[in-house]
Amino acid sequence: MPTQLIDLIAPFRERLAAARRAGMRIGFVPTMGALHAGHARLVECARRECDFVVVSIFVNPLQFDRQADLERYPRALQDDVRRCTALGVDVVFAPAAGEMYPTPPSCVIEVGRVAAHLCGAHRPGHFRGVATVVLKLFHIVQPDRAYFGEKDAQQLAVVRHLVRDFNLPVHIQGVPTVREDDGLALSSRNGRLDAQERRLATSLYNALVEARRQIAEGATNPAAVRDAAAAVVPRDGRVRLEYLEIVDPEQLQPVERIDRRVLAAGALWVGSTRLIDNLLCDPK
Ligand code: PAJ
Repeated sequence: MPTQLIDLIAPFRERLAAARRAGMRIGFVPTMGALHAGHARLVECARRECDFVVVSIFVNPLQFDRQADLERYPRALQDDVRRCTALGVDVVFAPAAGEMYPTPPSCVIEVGRVAAHLCGAHRPGHFRGVATVVLKLFHIVQPDRAYFGEKDAQQLAVVRHLVRDFNLPVHIQGVPTVREDDGLALSSRNGRLDAQERRLATSLYNALVEARRQIAEGATNPAAVRDAAAAVVPRDGRVRLEYLEIVDPEQLQPVERIDRRVLAAGALWVGSTRLIDNLLCDPK
């Protein structure tokens, strides 16, 4: 069966209701499109575990803190649908902004302390926009299982908190980060990098690996680990480390001492492109 492309909520709901009546388990992969092998990994997990697989493609204006980033965000709907067909996706839901937000929303999800650090501290309103659109999508799709990448660890944590706080009947499945051979995490934004920027981009992963190495070798002071990791990023005008923090993996709060599993997470500007990544680190 070819993948069905639906852009309106009402017929999408009818299609889902029919699948549900047929007793199918619904798997949902929310995305912003420009699909790559990282997204594909999420879809493969959904395909394995569910009977009916839905991918949403919606570049959600509410979660962009910079207008230029929203305007430059890659869009490739036809390629995305072809990719979804190859992966055995049942329905791609690709609404226009006016379908999702006919009027500016009066109610939004305010995210608490889990969004206080890392990207939440540097992108005001970002997780409010993510949590709000994910809640809307969950209400539209009503999936049994939803798939999120560990690459966006804070987003995954925010979604887990959202589901717990509002008793949403959906299982959240985290999926490990898919990387290029040199470690760079796949991202829709990587396509914006020129050849030199692409070489510099891998230093974020290298910095996180250095943090993980230090922690595995017994370092317990987060500030010292941070500094050692940051030193891996080349002194080059084209790169700027926005943050590199050591936090606890569930609440995403900075730790005073590294004496259990922690998350090392960072954001790196390469030219005008902002990349994020993270690694779980176990102490000695
Ligand atoms: P987007 O950036 O398109 O990512 C969609 C999903 O793919 C997210 O769960 C993300 O963590 C996952 N993903 C991206 N790169 C990955 C990689 N290299 N390895 C594994 N998974 C990866 O995240 C969003 O869209 C949006 O914020 C969204 C949740 C759709 C809400 O608008």
